[in-house]
Amino acid sequence: MNGQSSSTLKPMLHFGWFVGHGFGVQGWGTPGYALGYDWKKPALYQEAVRAFERSGLDLFIIEDSLTVPDTYGGTAEVSLAHASFAPKHDPLALVPYLLSATEHLGIVPTVSASFYPPFTAARLLATLQHFSEGQLGWNVVTSGSDLAAQNYGLDQQIEHDLRYEKAEEFVDVVRRLWRSWEPGAVLEDVAAGVFADHTKVHPINHEGDFFKVRGPLNTAPLPEEPVLVQAGASPRGKAFAGGHADVAIALARGVDGMKAYRDSIRAEAAKAGRNPDDVKVLFVLKPTVVGSTAEAEELRAQRRELTQRDIDSQLNSISYLSVIDFKRFDLDAPLPELSTNSNQGTLEHFAKAAPPGSTLRQILQARSGGAGDSIIGTVGEIADYLEETGAAVGGDGFLFSGFVDPVTVHSVLDKLTPELRRRGLLRTSYGNGGFRQNLLDF
Ligand SMILES: Cc1cc2nc3c(=O)[nH]c(=O)nc-3n(C[C@H](O)[C@H](O)[C@H](O)COP(=O)(O)O)c2cc1C
Repeated sequence: MNGQSSSTLKPMLHFGWFVGHGFGVQGWGTPGYALGYDWKKPALYQEAVRAFERSGLDLFIIEDSLTVPDTYGGTAEVSLAHASFAPKHDPLALVPYLLSATEHLGIVPTVSASFYPPFTAARLLATLQHFSEGQLGWNVVTSGSDLAAQNYGLDQQIEHDLRYEKAEEFVDVVRRLWRSWEPGAVLEDVAAGVFADHTKVHPINHEGDFFKVRGPLNTAPLPEEPVLVQAGASPRGKAFAGGHADVAIALARGVDGMKAYRDSIRAEAAKAGRNPDDVKVLFVLKPTVVGSTAEAEELRAQRRELTQRDIDSQLNSISYLSVIDFKRFDLDAPLPELSTNSNQGTLEHFAKAAPPGSTLRQILQARSGGAGDSIIGTVGEIADYLEETGAAVGGDGFLFSGFVDPVTVHSVLDKLTPELRRRGLLRTSYGNGGFRQNLLDF
């Protein structure tokens, strides 16, 4: 394997891609949309994952959500005009196509611990993991949306920390179902006429606060469990990620913020009796690669000049993610202190894009102009950032976020990949140990 020791000055980093639009409309609002690719069909995503694997990425995470958001101004107008969060297809149905297009890339669909019955999740993921021969992951989310809850028989989503209690039980049940067949249970003894040894297949008889599941699972047992990915950023969310995740997805700004984030996840892992090196903390970054420093400055300035569409787009997203209607705030007044029962980490990250006391408009301008989780620069500038930040934070790597249309994918990776490899930051090959082992390579 080509991994470098983590004690060298320039550790190799893990890179992945996070598609925040899920199995949804790719490239809407960009000139590339006119090329006419079909976001509704697997071919577009198959082409993207082939590019990710050629580029040495370790994983591809597919966001998911379960609503047509209408929190912003009490209407779905912006969500639907901007194709933001809707429409979108079910990512689990896409997974077999992505597996058939790749051999090593981790494929990570999102699964909601709030709305999937754990038996269904365990069975679906086990089936897909058999197809994948060790490439599958699952992004376990707690789903903060009341709108989603209303699609599943509730009036509103349950309380924030209670959702994490439910998610803990969900993960526990899914894993116990996966382990309900002891190793060696499948005999396939043709002469004796015994396929499986019934003494090695056990009900789990789970009765908890949220779920009642008898088991055993009725799929074939798994040689290796899927990689668990988690993005909780609140204190309770970090405890959940530290306790269970192989990969923690993180939104954080600045070296100090990222270091503190990574340290807190690692501390939670240690508290849960795990080796902190078994959790890779990957920071989300949306790169825009341009030809020159002057062009980067020009683009940043241009993006700070917010259009009404930019304002609506950002406010519609944060309204959905926080379940707070941002239409009601004055753009030119300081944003008041806010709290949410939904995505707490994401709301805090949004508000902190500009210094305390900033107006809502200043926050939006800072975010558009590249405040932390978006970066505009030349290949060299972006590679410098990744190299310096990666080393200063102590690893583990980054998740590029963006659409997966060919224009976006190639504009980010075609020039950045060779430069990151030249610097020894990005893998040039994969071993044969599967997704989890790839994460543990360095
Ligand atoms: C980068 C990132 C990606 C996420 N992806 C999803 C997703 O696909 N679906 C979803 O329902 N929630 C998603 N979430 C929400 C988290 O999984 C988590 O449930 C949420 O942040 C609430 O946790 P917190 O209050 O601990 O921050 C994401 C969050 C972040 C920061």
